[in-house]
Order: sequence, then C-alpha cells, then structure tokens
Amino acid sequence: MSGTLNTESNHMNPLKELLVEELRDLLHAEGQLVAALPKMAEAAHHPKLKEAFLKHLKQTEGHVERLKKAFELLGEKAQPKPCKAMMGLVEEGKETIEEGKEKTEIAADLGLIAAAQKVEHYEISGYGTARSLARQIGERDVTTLLAHTLGEEESADSGLTKLSKPLMQQASSAEAGAGSKTARARKQKAGA
Ligand SMILES: [Fe+2]
Repeated sequence: MSGTLNTESNHMNPLKELLVEELRDLLHAEGQLVAALPKMAEAAHHPKLKEAFLKHLKQTEGHVERLKKAFELLGEKAQPKPCKAMMGLVEEGKETIEEGKEKTEIAADLGLIAAAQKVEHYEISGYGTARSLARQIGERDVTTLLAHTLGEEESADSGLTKLSKPLMQQASSAEAGAGSKTARARKQKAGA
C-alpha cells in the first residue's frame, strides 16, 4: 500500500540494524583515537591539557570495552566499519600538531583543543543517536553503557572549553601588551 511504512521484513529490526551500524562506526572511531590521543598529549604544552588528553585516552580505552560489551549484549560481532569522518578529523589533528610547531605555545594548545572538540562533538552525536536507538528497541543494558560513554564525552568536551578560556585570555592580553608596545614605539619614533 502506498503511503504506509513497510514494517514487514525478514531481516533484523531496522532500528537494531541502524544501531549496530552506528556502533561499528563508533568502534572504528574509538580505535583511531586510542592511537591519536598520545600524539595530542605529546604535542600539548600546558600540563593541564596534556593531563586532559591522557585522561581521555584512558576513558577511550574504556569506551572500546563498553562498545564490545554492547555488541555482545546484542548478539552481534564487534566488527569495526571504517569511520571516514574520524579518519578526516584525525588527519586534521595531525596537521594541527604540525602547524602548532610554528606557533606560540598558547596558540598551538588552542589549536589542539579545537581539533579535539571537533572529535568530541562527532562522538557525542554518534553516541546520542546510538543511545536513542538502543532505548527505542528496549535494550536497557546497552542504553546504560552508551549513556555512560556519552556522559564522559560530554564532560571531556566541557573540560576542554574550560581549559581554553584562560589560554584565550592570556593570548589576548599578550596581544594587547604587544599592541601597546608597538604604539609606544611608533610615538617615540614620531618624537611624540
Ligand atoms: Fe570515546
């Protein structure tokens, strides 16, 4: 019948199928992050930023474990599916690390925070969707696992925002200082 949704299928529940696809994407994404985060930590200058990346590395290892547990609960193989979005974000992260070498420490750290927050937002989106799908199909234990990880991604994101604030302030006061020095030098040159 036209105009009605076809809910009849011999295949897996379409919501469960979507959930499994989302989890496979996340599994690949998290795996890439386990490899990328030590490089971000190494490139960070501020000790608190280094610490934040290393803390998130530990959490990320836990996220991989939770995903594997979710696959087990769903009776599915924990098979990653290449996450092109995360591959791109990690690639950009590498560029940010390289470009940071030519920048002040504060500017380089702010670049790393920006790159890391893009990653967090991608994950927040993926886990948010996956949690809703799991909840909708009544997979309560999977929902709990995903909600737990989602909470950690959100706090990692807000932690990075908190870290960026004093760095931005420092960068603008340094800029203002340099600006007034230039102005003074110009006045002196002009004999004012
Ligand atoms: Fe994660």
